[in-house]
Amino acid sequence: MPKPRRSQDRQDYYYWEAKKRGYRSRAAFKLIQMNKTFKLIREGDKVLDLGATPGGWSQVCVEFGAEVVAVDLNPMRPIEGVTFIRGDINDEETLDKIKSVCKEYDVVICDAAPKITGHWSIDHLRSVELVLSAFRIAKIVLKPGGNFLVKMFQGEESQRVFRELKPFFRFKKFHSPPASRKRSAEIYFVGKGFKRAKEVFFVE
Ligand SMILES: C[S@@+](CC[C@H](N)C(=O)[O-])C[C@H]1O[C@@H](n2cnc3c(N)ncnc32)[C@H](O)[C@@H]1O
Repeated sequence: MPKPRRSQDRQDYYYWEAKKRGYRSRAAFKLIQMNKTFKLIREGDKVLDLGATPGGWSQVCVEFGAEVVAVDLNPMRPIEGVTFIRGDINDEETLDKIKSVCKEYDVVICDAAPKITGHWSIDHLRSVELVLSAFRIAKIVLKPGGNFLVKMFQGEESQRVFRELKPFFRFKKFHSPPASRKRSAEIYFVGKGFKRAKEVFFVE
């Protein structure tokens, strides 16, 4: 885990707690908190973790008793119970690799983040692209009734994205866990009870 730069962050409770408990990221606590609130991942689930490196979320999923397939542009040190695929979630080739490990998943989670430019609008739009790539993958590999969790940097497109994702889930919400930094632009879309496209377009 890289050391936080700002003095404020060095005092960060979750950073030191992650170090103490052997988690590879402070983000691990966000998933722990969201899973407590929304019961997204259960023992025995097959979880697809997109944008997974360094692996904090994957570690937590394994602790929940899930089998994990993790994907990232960057390499990830091995974790027992996790199959790692190095690839870009925007690429068709990555989707093929995901499907070749497992055809259907109970849960798809995505904490992928673009390289930050510092320009709010650019970072937001790049993050929206990642959300839509994760959703495109989820629509293909998520089991009916499955759960979806994805991070987005908030901005002008947030509501449009919400409207696009919303019809596909029985339960849907934007949520910010306590472990997200107060000044962070990030927000998570939580979708439970996935409906396949044919149900969405022919029933509703
Ligand atoms: C905030 S980190 C994820 C932290 C992780 N959830 C954890 O707990 O350790 C975001 C990750 O998204 C990855 N990422 C960004 N764009 C991606 C893309 N197009 N395809 C795959 N991974 C991507 C980055 O390489 C980075 O490792």
